[in-house]
Amino acid sequence: MGGLSPEREVSIVTGNSILEALNRKGLTALPIHVDHNIGETLKSNPIDLAFLALHGTFGEDGCIQGLLEYFKIPYTGSGVMGSALAYDKLKSKEILKFHGIPTADYEVFYKNQKKSRRLDLPVVAKPINQGSSLGVTIVRDEDQWESALETAFSYSNEVIVEKFIDGKLLAIGMNGMTPMPIVHIRPKSGFYDYEAKYTSGKTEYICPADLEENEADRCRQTAQQVFQVLRGRGFPRVDIILDGDGVPQVLEMNTIPGMTPTSLLPMAAREMGLEFDELVIEILKTAQRDYTE
Ligand SMILES: Nc1ncnc2c1ncn2[C@@H]1O[C@H](COP(=O)(O)OP(=O)(O)O)[C@@H](O)[C@H]1O
Ligand SMILES: [Mg+2]
Repeated sequence: MGGLSPEREVSIVTGNSILEALNRKGLTALPIHVDHNIGETLKSNPIDLAFLALHGTFGEDGCIQGLLEYFKIPYTGSGVMGSALAYDKLKSKEILKFHGIPTADYEVFYKNQKKSRRLDLPVVAKPINQGSSLGVTIVRDEDQWESALETAFSYSNEVIVEKFIDGKLLAIGMNGMTPMPIVHIRPKSGFYDYEAKYTSGKTEYICPADLEENEADRCRQTAQQVFQVLRGRGFPRVDIILDGDGVPQVLEMNTIPGMTPTSLLPMAAREMGLEFDELVIEILKTAQRDYTE
């Protein structure tokens, strides 16, 4: 837990929630706060299994997964490639497009390269690899454009600019290829930013989501396709905006979704009768390694 990304604080909350659940279940679980000495820590401690509670860079992008492969320690969540693919918003979208899975039209901007925008407003500017809505801006007016780009570039050298999709923001937790109950996210401010994500009362959650059965089916099928093409494993969460035409436009797949008692995946699990501690055990059971040698 913890780690080196700006999502460090969120990761610690997730990590402690998981740790408490494992201890309540009678398992021997110890927190590892990840820093640059993680290699030494892994070498000097006997570890049967790593329950990953890391978000963001080094934690969700294949780095820690690669290190754990070296040490032959099974870990929860996606493997090295699955983590890297899902974490990179550009690579994710290229793969989704290749497979004909709907996702907002987009273009890429590189730091220090001057070019004009192709897409008409409103658009959403976001760093290519980040989470928790950090550096994400919805641009509705031309005079917001430059500062939105600058904000996104403060997090990464590549920025993705997407058409703004008007619709229902949905999160679909996946138990492998099996979709869990859909959560409809309704931020009171209209934008599911960092504050709306982590301040209680700032967002309304409806689970199961208030959807027509055929809409829900389409969303679930899309989430399954995303899980497959982005090499999901374990219990990731696929985020979608169901647009006005009923098309599930895929935002992203989170390979290590938040696991605080108020997070979306535990909310979906509770709806299907799986309490937080049981969910933690189910996730634990999916731990594995890419390589068997
Ligand atoms: N194309 C879009 N249209 C409308 N809203 C968007 C779009 N892209 C992102 N958002 C909003 O911004 C939030 C964060 O975007 P997301 O791509 O999920 O990045 P992060 O990895 O930081 O969570 C989403 O939950 C959604 O509310
Ligand atoms: Mg997101």
